[in-house]
Amino acid sequence: MDETFVSTDILIIGLGIAGATVAYKLAEAGLNVVVVLKGTLEDDGNTHYAQGGIVYKGDSDSPELLYKDIMEAGSWVNNPEAVKIVAFEGPKILKEFLIDKIGVEFYRDEKGNLEFTEEGAHSIRRIIFSGDKTGKAIITKLIESLKKFKNITILENHIAIDLITWQFHSKDPLRMYKDKTCLGAYVYDEKNKVVKNITAKATVLATGGMGKVYLFNTNPEIATGDGYAMAYRAGAELINMEYTQFHPTTLYHPLKKNFLLSESLRGEGAIIVNHKGERFLFKFDPRGELAPRDVVTRGIISELTSTGQECAFLDASKIGSKEKLKSRFPTIYETLESIGIDMSTDLIPIVPAFHFQCGGVKTDIYGKTNIKRLFAIGEVACNGLHGANRLASTSLLEGVVFGHYLAKFIVENIEKKIFKEFPEIEPWVDTGTEEADSILLKQDWNTLRAIMWNYVGPIRTRKRLKRSLVDIKNLQLGIEDFYKEAKISRDIIELRNAIQTGYIVALSAWANKKSIGSHYRID
Ligand code: SIN
Repeated sequence: MDETFVSTDILIIGLGIAGATVAYKLAEAGLNVVVVLKGTLEDDGNTHYAQGGIVYKGDSDSPELLYKDIMEAGSWVNNPEAVKIVAFEGPKILKEFLIDKIGVEFYRDEKGNLEFTEEGAHSIRRIIFSGDKTGKAIITKLIESLKKFKNITILENHIAIDLITWQFHSKDPLRMYKDKTCLGAYVYDEKNKVVKNITAKATVLATGGMGKVYLFNTNPEIATGDGYAMAYRAGAELINMEYTQFHPTTLYHPLKKNFLLSESLRGEGAIIVNHKGERFLFKFDPRGELAPRDVVTRGIISELTSTGQECAFLDASKIGSKEKLKSRFPTIYETLESIGIDMSTDLIPIVPAFHFQCGGVKTDIYGKTNIKRLFAIGEVACNGLHGANRLASTSLLEGVVFGHYLAKFIVENIEKKIFKEFPEIEPWVDTGTEEADSILLKQDWNTLRAIMWNYVGPIRTRKRLKRSLVDIKNLQLGIEDFYKEAKISRDIIELRNAIQTGYIVALSAWANKKSIGSHYRID
């Protein structure tokens, strides 16, 4: 698809598990779908890197028990409506869609029964997995299945710049008096170096998260907060952005940055110790290593602060033999081996790192935002499922379950008039003439990521947050000039979005004076 003006039924921005589920269900219903992703099918999105697993239904499990666990992890500020849907309908949707229809292979025992693992804050073993590559196993099958649909067009190396809205981009100035409405997006085609106007009856933001905004994080490089920033600029409401989840166990090693050590290691028996080899997490919670992530993270930080050490250690030798570790956690085993760590005998150095944004673009259970014809799904969205802290292994399930809800809503409503009107919109105008200075861009990234980690990290104070707001605002002024003067490029688009997203998180954290879940203030 090389045209500069493209019109379709549905535009989906991003292709993780949530975007792919929506694309599948809408294409199955006969709608024309265009999916844009800024990377390639092999690596775009957090789903590719999800290790632990996906919540299913354990032996002696019940929807009520899952409901309680999700609410408890989220500090009971979750949206009960969303939690109920996941707890009561999630396992059925997972089985029918991912296992029976798409054919995802999860680990099974010798009798052919699904195997279960455990993670923090779950009452029982109920998480199914595919080694430590669960996300990859799911997304590979999903993408394979999308390729069978003739009515899906997937555009790789295409990054959305901004949403097209009636109030900002209509040729008719009087449109600003009407409801906020989204008509698609301006999308930069990186290979051909052109900006495309892609208009659609409905636009779905499925852009994932924002990990790169933090110095230490578990996310891939592409997680630059694009969806939050675009939605914000278009006038969408965002909520709970201060609830930034930090994962307790990321590898601390100069040769391998941002490498996650799945919580299921602890579910299978790994323990956390300090530099003296002593367990310390029971001081903070009777569940020890299997307390919710926010509790374990703060426990580690507190131990490091009081002992003056730089990292804690994960002892995975408790899980079992070398062979068991190799077959159950192949990616982790190989990665550690490549830097000289034998996880069957050696302690693994760890520190907490940003992992997941529990807040996002406010939606209802159908993914509807406050902007007509704009939907959001997956990590970029917030229907309140996670409250103040996400329960482990619920994010993949969230994408599948609410992907079904969102697709159902669109299919049932697409023929109504509201989806059909197409006013004339302004074409994209590129004001930039210069090449971007890569040194300036790099330094802005370094500054932003350090501010976010040091001032808007796992432990927050009013003074640090206030400082972060001033410093990020400064960066924002610089990038807006830059954005106007330099030729459009993926680097500039991403940095502009990251700065905007960082500012939203810092502002939300500053405004919420109460420590709750993953938002922790000590003043
Ligand atoms: C992990 O494997 O520890 C991550 C799983 C999750 O984020 O839910």
